[in-house]
Amino acid sequence: MNTQLKHIFKPLTLRHKTLRNRITFGAHTANMAEQGLPGARHRGYYLERAIGGAAMIVVEPIPVHPTAVLTRGNFKPGCDSVIEPFRQLTGACQEQGAVMIQQLYHVGQHGDADNSFAPNWSPSGMPSYHDSDGSHAMTEAEIETIIEAFIQAARRCQLAGFDGVEIWAAYHALLDQFWTPWSNKRNDRWGGSLENRTRLSRQICTGIREACGDDFIIGLAVNDEPDYDVALSRESLAEIIARHDRDELIDYVTCGTGSYLDFYKLMPTVFYPENMGADLATVLNSAVSFARIQAESHIRTPENANNVIASGQADMVSIVRGQIADPHLVNKARENRVEDIRSCLSCNQMCWGRRSRDYWISCLINPSAGREFEWGGDRFSLAPVSRRVLVVGGGPAGLECARVAAERGHRVTLCEASGELGGQFRLAGMQPRRGQILQLMEWYATQLDKLGVDVRYNSPMGSDEISEFSADAVVLATGSQPAGTGYQKALPHLTTLPGVHRGNVWSVEDVMSRRARLGQQILLLDEGGNWRGCGTALHLTEQGYQVTVITPDAMVGKELSRTAADYPLRKALKRAGVKFIVESGIQEWTASGARIISFLDSEETFIPADSLVLATANMADDWLTQELAGHNSDVELHSIGDCVASRQAPYAFHEGRKLGLQL
Ligand SMILES: Cc1cc2nc3c(=O)[nH]c(=O)nc-3n(C[C@H](O)[C@H](O)[C@H](O)COP(=O)(O)O)c2cc1C
Ligand code: SF4
Repeated sequence: MNTQLKHIFKPLTLRHKTLRNRITFGAHTANMAEQGLPGARHRGYYLERAIGGAAMIVVEPIPVHPTAVLTRGNFKPGCDSVIEPFRQLTGACQEQGAVMIQQLYHVGQHGDADNSFAPNWSPSGMPSYHDSDGSHAMTEAEIETIIEAFIQAARRCQLAGFDGVEIWAAYHALLDQFWTPWSNKRNDRWGGSLENRTRLSRQICTGIREACGDDFIIGLAVNDEPDYDVALSRESLAEIIARHDRDELIDYVTCGTGSYLDFYKLMPTVFYPENMGADLATVLNSAVSFARIQAESHIRTPENANNVIASGQADMVSIVRGQIADPHLVNKARENRVEDIRSCLSCNQMCWGRRSRDYWISCLINPSAGREFEWGGDRFSLAPVSRRVLVVGGGPAGLECARVAAERGHRVTLCEASGELGGQFRLAGMQPRRGQILQLMEWYATQLDKLGVDVRYNSPMGSDEISEFSADAVVLATGSQPAGTGYQKALPHLTTLPGVHRGNVWSVEDVMSRRARLGQQILLLDEGGNWRGCGTALHLTEQGYQVTVITPDAMVGKELSRTAADYPLRKALKRAGVKFIVESGIQEWTASGARIISFLDSEETFIPADSLVLATANMADDWLTQELAGHNSDVELHSIGDCVASRQAPYAFHEGRKLGLQL
């Protein structure tokens, strides 16, 4: 047991259950239902975190009513058919020692008719902040329907073996729409006074307690939104929670951050500080005498969790993305193996980035997330025969493949051409605020060392050296290279950018590896709309350059919008003085500026610039693959990651893991 983290390993009693520690896996829409039911993907996902030591798991929300359906992967509302498959899930996780809760939600005015095919219901008919729809002001009868729907959903949870439910009154959902005077303008017994505005949530809690009895945990999820005057202040929330606590209606309160008014704080990326939910938790902690208080949001590491609990800000802590990234975070902390924890990058690339597009979630650095059922969790079993494996290239694909192959008992040598691990992902880690990527590279170095992988730096490999190595299997993970042509997808008739050979043209990789010799005024062409271009622009401004970003998209950082990092990033760029030119392309580079064309009205302008930086798609670095294919040797040869096709990092980690499991 790790005594330095002793506060998180104190058990905690919640009604009829004792949590084995203070770290929970909080609610999040993993979006994994199949035909509205939990299946193998869903079971494997939660079971892995139960095995990994999470004290309590709040399973992703079930909409309580057809008007509450929000995603394609939501569970069926109001239907007993969910009970049996959920029973398999709860039983398996409880066997591993986790207390099992399910979140119940209704998002009120912010629904999604594309999935619900129903009008949004709300207290006062205000518009949705999810899309362009309005909402329907609920009648008294509809309010009674929703109360009954919550109670029946909780009853189903109990039949499915859950130890309790968490009622969603967070982020401006239906219940906190009723609490909030700005969105509740009713003058009947559901609006006006605090007593009236909290009547709905109190009646739901009372009804669930009556239906499910004393041995059933009732939690309440709330949120901190200090940046908007119209949202409930911390003090108002404290009053509301105290009103529920007075009658012992709730056993715990969980404090998240952000809301439909500011989605960016809801799953905070690298632009936000850590331990965000702890401020509200502190205020609510002094308002309750019965309920336990949980802090949630960007707490990320066991050390942070320990500090939050030690300082008395909260009784327990939820770590969501931290346990998506490493399902065994809690056990590793308990066993004094903190250096083995693969820490979340706060990037949202494959968790929220997939949920926001209505896919089931996964993780950039943990490709087994969502695939536990087919990949045997985030654990490894020995291969039948130990083989000699040579991995060429130490970027994400090569690192992950080498690690997993070694975990499975193979004798692995990793040859990296440069003096450092990480490839282009390391360059990403040198962009502002992205130092967590460099920590991940340290994690790989530690893991490879512990696993006895023979890592050879400054060791470029040609086909002859590879043949001489006599490996049982060779894995090529040599990455990709900038195209160097200035080809723009938006101007497909130009195979190369006119004037690209006139000089002062660099790739993002040239810039981040400091090979570029730049002038003061920089034009950065970003066709990706992601961190590669935008993060480099931020890096350049921090180095004192004047930067203009030009993109064919309607906004800078378009692809990052799926990760909820785009707006904070655009803000940071704007505040640093970066100029944006959108829906435009480059007709010609003159070496002292560029002829720009607007795609909207074909207007041409000249932008003076000393240097042009290209963030266009890379080309696979596959010469070694081709050369070895021509060798006619019978060595088992694999190519993974960018050397097959240049892509974003998740697919390199994914292919590394997948091949490592197959070797
Ligand atoms: C993919 C994803 C889906 C989420 N869905 C929900 C949800 O359905 N209900 C909820 O209360 N919070 C949801 N959240 C918010 C999380 O509960 C949590 O507050 C947030 O991720 C910040 O905590 P963390 O930094 O520990 O990840 C979601 C978060 C993510 C990443
Ligand atoms: S995708 Fe990024 S933010 Fe999401 S869990 Fe993985 S590392 Fe964390």
